[in-house]
Parts: sequence; C-alpha cells; structure tokens
Amino acid sequence: MANNEELFKAIISHAKEYGFIFPSSEIYDGLSAVYDYGQYGVELKNNIKQYWWKAMVQYHENIVGIDSAIFMHPTIWKASGHVDAFNDPLIDNKDSKKRYRADVLIEDHIQKIEDKINKEVEKAKKRFENFDEALFRQTNARVVEHQKKIDDITAKYAELMQNNDLAGLKQLIIDLEIACPISGTRNWTDVRQFNLMFSTQMGSVAEGADTIYLRPETAQGIFVNFLNVQKTGRMKIPFGIAQIGKAFRNEIVARQFIFRMREFEQMEMQFFVRPGEELKWFEYWKKERIEWHKALGIAPENYRFHDHEKLAHYANAATDIEFKFPFGFKELEGIHSRTNYDLSRHEEFSGKKLRYFDHETNESYVPYVVETSIGVDRMFLAVFSNAYCEETLEDGSTRVVLRLPAKLAPVKVAVLPLVKKDGMPEKAREIMDMLKPHYLCQYDEKDAIGRRYRRQDAIGTPYCITIDNQTMEDGTVTIRERDSMQQYRVSSDEIINKLKIEI
Ligand code: GAP
Repeated sequence: MANNEELFKAIISHAKEYGFIFPSSEIYDGLSAVYDYGQYGVELKNNIKQYWWKAMVQYHENIVGIDSAIFMHPTIWKASGHVDAFNDPLIDNKDSKKRYRADVLIEDHIQKIEDKINKEVEKAKKRFENFDEALFRQTNARVVEHQKKIDDITAKYAELMQNNDLAGLKQLIIDLEIACPISGTRNWTDVRQFNLMFSTQMGSVAEGADTIYLRPETAQGIFVNFLNVQKTGRMKIPFGIAQIGKAFRNEIVARQFIFRMREFEQMEMQFFVRPGEELKWFEYWKKERIEWHKALGIAPENYRFHDHEKLAHYANAATDIEFKFPFGFKELEGIHSRTNYDLSRHEEFSGKKLRYFDHETNESYVPYVVETSIGVDRMFLAVFSNAYCEETLEDGSTRVVLRLPAKLAPVKVAVLPLVKKDGMPEKAREIMDMLKPHYLCQYDEKDAIGRRYRRQDAIGTPYCITIDNQTMEDGTVTIRERDSMQQYRVSSDEIINKLKIEI
C-alpha cells in the first residue's frame, strides 16, 4: 500500500464490499456522517459491546448496568452545561462557502509540521547509518526549529481555547496562513460558537411543544439515576453504573469515516467514590482500561495515553487513550475524574438531594465520579483498521485478510463441504447443527474451496472446517486457521473442544 491515505480508502471500501458498513440512505446519495452497519458489521459491533459489558459489569461485582432513554428532561442539559457550553468554534471560507472547525484547522496545521519532523527524522536516521555527519547536523537543526514552532503554536492555541477567545482563534488562522483546502484562499469569516446538540419538539401541538434534545452523551442518564440504582441495588461506595447507548452530535467536521459521526454509540461507566479518593480510582481505571485494550492482542505500540494539560473546570484529572488509526494517533477513549460537578449541578437544578450516607464514616456527601467513556464505532474502526491486511503469498497470489481478534470476529467458523456430492453437504450440515448452539457459523458450498477460504479471510473468520473424502471414510475433518493458513485434521467429535480453547 503506497501510503496511509490509500490504506484508509481500501479499508473503507472493504468495509462496504463485505457487508460491514454502508453509508446511510445510500440510494438517496447518503447522509453525511451517518452510517449503517451491515450483516457482519452488526456482529462485530455486538461482540465489541459484549466484550466491554463483560469486562465492566460481569467481572466487577460493584458495577451494574442500566439502559436509560435517549430523550430526557431538557433541564438536564442546562444542569450539565451542554446548553451553554457544548460548542465548537466554527469558521466559513467566503469563497468556497465551506464550513470548518477553527480548532481542527489549527490542529491539522500542527499535524502537518509534525509530519515534516517525522520525515526529517527518518531521513536523518538513514544519513546517520551512512555516517553523513554534516547532513545529520543540518537536519537536526531543522527538526529543532520545527519543534519550537509547534510548541509556540500549541501554547498560543491552548490559551485561546481556554479563554474562549474566538477573535484570537481567527487571528491565529490568519497568522499561520492557513488556506481553505477547496478554494485555496484565506478569505475567512469570523469564528462563531456552534452548539452540537440536536433538538426536536416533544408534544402533539407545536404551540405547547417543549424543545428537547437528543442526548449528546449517555453519561447524564447515569447521573440522574444515581440514587435509583444506589437504593434499589443497595450499592455501597465505591460502585459503578455502566451503560451502552446511542448519542447524537451535530459535528461540523464530519469526516474520517466512522471516527466522527453524527449518530454514534458510547460505552460509558461512572464510578462513584468517596471525596478525596478520586485520584486513586482515576489511576485504577487508567490501568484497567489500557489492559482491556491490550488483552485483545493488538500490538501495544498502537496505544498511548494523552494526559490533558488544560482541564475542564469541573475535572481534576483527565486522559485519553489514543490509538494509532491509519490517519495517526487519535482519541479512542476518555478517562475523566469529574469531581462531584454533575451530581451537585443536578441537585441544584432539580432541587432533589443526590447524596450518599456512608455508614463507615457516618457522613453524608455528594460522591465524586471517575468516568470511562469509549465510542463503540471508534473502537470498531480501531479493531477493523488494525485487522485489515493485504498479503502476498509464497505462490505470488494475494489475499486480503481481516486478522480480527477471534473473540470479536463476526463469524467464528465456516463449514465447507469440499464438493457438492458424495454425502459431503449432508455431513457438513450435521457439523453445522452441532456447532450452531456454540458459535455463529456459516455454511458455504459455492465455488472452489480456495475462493471460499478467501471469502472467509476477507470477513475475518478465524476457522474453516472442511469436509472431504477422508471425512466420509474416518469421520475426521480439516481445521484451517485464518492467520497461518495451516490445516490439521481432527475427529469431528473433537471440533467443539478444540475450538472452545481457541475462541
Ligand atoms: N461523557 C464523556 C464524553 O462523552 P467525549 O470525549 O466527548 O466524552 C467519549 O466522548 C468518547 O465517545 C470518545 O472518546 C469517542 O470514542 C466517542 N465519540 C465522541 N464523539 C464521537 C463522534 N462524533 N463519533 C464517534 N464517536 C465519538
């Protein structure tokens, strides 16, 4: 693959061609930043959700799940700060009439300089190998210069964002000579704030209708149910509430496929702790969550933490787990120590007490919260893009294989009669019936066996079971492994035990 952009394009078209992800409303030319999951996509997505739910709810005795409604009382979004402050800074180019996020324009500019540095460093490494010291020194000076530029821009940018200085953001875009990628001009409007929440009306007549919002995060559904769950579940602090559900954001810059969508799903967990113990639990959840990612067997160098230097006013610690997507390291999950901000605000706005009586300390308090929040779709993209592989085999042929972690693969086993005669389809059906209660299996008898293996490789099926002449004689079958393409024979009675260990 020539470069990462081409790789990313190949991944997107593979996702469509093999029934993982389709653009929404495609026959009507699509709907920007909205996607549908196809027959394999929904399986992979469900497996990701199950993997998360098991790790959070099943393995932690002090975490329970809920499923709150998407529509909530509009005052919730006042209390949470979303009505007043859930904004992106927006800027238009007057010539192309295209709209951009001012912060993204600046971040992309910084990224370009970083890419330049990386290229220089790569070149310098080669020169160092050839021991061209003079050239190495020159490169080194350029790298230092670029790095200084990045540090200066980043510091200025962080200050402007922190102070909500919209005029300053526009000035920075002008100073950095950032041009519109479509028109190529620097003819920009002023920067304005744009609220990301979708609103709609509730009620049968427009006059009496109330504006309500499609939730932009699932977390508030957890906060407002904190006491319901604590009381009915007799939960003792520290304890957590987990939820998986849809969230909606009117993203201005909707690109990078399912990385930034307008309708997406989140897996969030709010962990309620004693005041003063939140930073200990923040460290605990950082460790737990990175281990959850790494347990999938994806190379550890694809993950890194990015601690937030400037914190939101209600947070006293925050970090992102970033993943190396084909377009670079980007946020996959957020872990935030949110203090008692949300519960206190809901106390204030609802007039109801949201306190916990701690029998150990004999105190009543508003608990502090550590949150873990990950997008299902972003996790899907991380797993899918990491799994996508184009290989040239020893015989010179090529194959596209999805090296998905077996526990997440949509189809676990394909059952393939070598030919459509001599009792092989019937035997294959028997094996399908035996495996169906355990795994999602697929039966396929069409085309030559090699083509069928390729089809299964392309959707990431870890195992193919082939029924051949020998099966009809001694009851053994071959199991073919997706990654190594190695095959071995086992008795058909042993298939379940063999696969149970592997999947
Ligand atoms: N309750 C905290 C919260 O919502 P966030 O950083 O805004 O925090 C958490 O979002 C996670 O949700 C992100 O790390 C990302 O994985 C996912 N996410 C956010 N916006 C998204 C979007 N527009 N499309 C897809 N996933 C998104």
